[in-house]
Amino acid sequence: MRRTLGTCYYPEHWPREIWEEDARRMVEAGLTWVRIGEFAWSRLEPAPGRFEWDWLDTAMHVLGQAGLKVVLGTPTATPPRWVVDKHPDMLARDVEGRPRGYGSRRHYCFSHEGYLAECRRIVTALADRYGHHPHLAAWQTDNEYGCHDTAVSYSEAARDAFRDWLAQRYQSVEALNRAWGNVFWSMDYDSFDQIELPNLTVTEPNPAHSLAFRRFSSDQVARFNRVQVEIIRARSKAPISHNYMGRETGFDHYKVGEDLDFVTWDSYPLGFLEDRVGADAQTQRRYARQGEPDFQAFHHDLYRATGRGRWWVMEQQPGPVNWAPHNPSPLPGMVRFWTWEAFAHGAEAVCYFRWRQAPFAQEQLHTGMLRPDSAEAPAYGEAQQVARELSARPEVTAARAPVALIFDFDAAWAWEVQPHGAGLSYFDLVLDHYRALRRAGLSIDILPPEGDLSGYAMVLAPGLNRMPEELKARLSGCGAEVLIGPRSGARDGEFSIPVPLPPAMPGLDLRVTRVESLRPDMPLPLEGGGGATRYLEEIEGGAEVVLASEAGQPVAMRGGRVLYMGGWGDAAALDRLVAGMAARAGVALRDMPEGVRCRETATERFWFNHNAEAVEAEVGVIGPADFLVEELG
Ligand code: GAL
Repeated sequence: MRRTLGTCYYPEHWPREIWEEDARRMVEAGLTWVRIGEFAWSRLEPAPGRFEWDWLDTAMHVLGQAGLKVVLGTPTATPPRWVVDKHPDMLARDVEGRPRGYGSRRHYCFSHEGYLAECRRIVTALADRYGHHPHLAAWQTDNEYGCHDTAVSYSEAARDAFRDWLAQRYQSVEALNRAWGNVFWSMDYDSFDQIELPNLTVTEPNPAHSLAFRRFSSDQVARFNRVQVEIIRARSKAPISHNYMGRETGFDHYKVGEDLDFVTWDSYPLGFLEDRVGADAQTQRRYARQGEPDFQAFHHDLYRATGRGRWWVMEQQPGPVNWAPHNPSPLPGMVRFWTWEAFAHGAEAVCYFRWRQAPFAQEQLHTGMLRPDSAEAPAYGEAQQVARELSARPEVTAARAPVALIFDFDAAWAWEVQPHGAGLSYFDLVLDHYRALRRAGLSIDILPPEGDLSGYAMVLAPGLNRMPEELKARLSGCGAEVLIGPRSGARDGEFSIPVPLPPAMPGLDLRVTRVESLRPDMPLPLEGGGGATRYLEEIEGGAEVVLASEAGQPVAMRGGRVLYMGGWGDAAALDRLVAGMAARAGVALRDMPEGVRCRETATERFWFNHNAEAVEAEVGVIGPADFLVEELG
């Protein structure tokens, strides 16, 4: 596979006279790809049925003539005003039932049939016109499904579609009442038409109701995407993608990915650091200009899984962004560093967002590869450097990692519906395990629960609230050292506590008899170091005790190759578990300086130094915001 670069361009933002010059400079920077069009609906169809293609025809021609390959976005993330005026009830509604107003973007409800019909129309028109265009090389559907909290809508359209979805899933309302336990608080329904969305209740709604709504909302996103994909496929042979956002758990990315040819994601390491990572103040200070060492890597690995191996970074942060609590500049060299980090994790392409900083509107303080006056911004030179470096190592062969880590969107919803303690999130739990593996120098493959476990020495599957028997059997029979818990199999598919008590894992004599959430300042210290923090389970049974509290309470136990962790381990506890599993599995760990991370392809080992100072690692001295590459024999 070949590694390439690109950028995101908005010809409609700039005078026609500068397009040639822009295209020429993109090529000079070493770029291959240019993504356009994803917000341009008002300029493509300024009034119902009145299309203006000329400018896009010209832009595609100019960019293509310069030697660039075009990724064309469908503009459905930004319905123009006239679409909203035509369908006033297409606006999504927030949890308080308020319409999410016009004047920015993503102001649509996935369940609104009238809006979906408008999308069908514009996507059909676009695909008819450009499906076989010589410079059209790939498609992008919409833009960042779910971003700005938009996967879920509490509109009437969503309510009606939810009732249909429930009727199909449960067939009879009696079955739904039984599955949800609606005898509780006299919540029984007589018909599907009585079921409202799980908002505006006096106190919390039934968690089974909330989880069903999250599953439904995810299916609506997948359906919306599939409609576009089918239209494009019928009219074009170019591969189809979508650009996911970081830390977006509103819909099942594996499911959407099944309909795509490749996936992409949008990586904003400094924006995420304060906005989405959830790191403490000290970590935020330490990595303020570099980004947290594991957050981007985690998404690279997660989105590699959702793209079944084929993925890009569609939007790479080029300098300060405009949307986080604070928006510092990256250290010099960081844009190059982030680009190579993505390549090390298997990205086929990295595209910078955006080509030129816009002097107007919401993102005027968001940098680009060029300044608003068209002079080069620092990202331009760093991209050019990467392009030069790519000529030395353009090709890459992916390698299977020794470790698999399972990530399940359904589990993320279950934890969000019923966290049981403030701030307890499945995403953070999995990320903490990922961090522990990376602190030990390991490369990781993230897998869906249905993923193929064969060939891995270690498999980690923390926090899977729901574990079908089939998955339990695969985990206990896969031959790897396996870690599960906390909350593994803690609920059945309908959000009830199963009996026999969880995890009911073959070959593991262990039951969770009670769970508690802890104040963050009251961790349970473990004998031998580390602690259980924020969440703890009482576990009993004949399995071997691997970790216990200082007072002798078992916290982690093993039966055969399966290790159960009955709490949220802090970094030291997770390091101990990883070290123990690796020793049993015969996996060699590395001594990693703080902030240094490794990643292997089939032929290279990358060493990334996320620190603002030079660091001495096993491989040698690595400069600040820099990396070294070892050739593997
Ligand atoms: C992304 C989005 C882009 C742009 C960018 C700014 O989330 O896809 O359109 O808004 O953020 O950082």
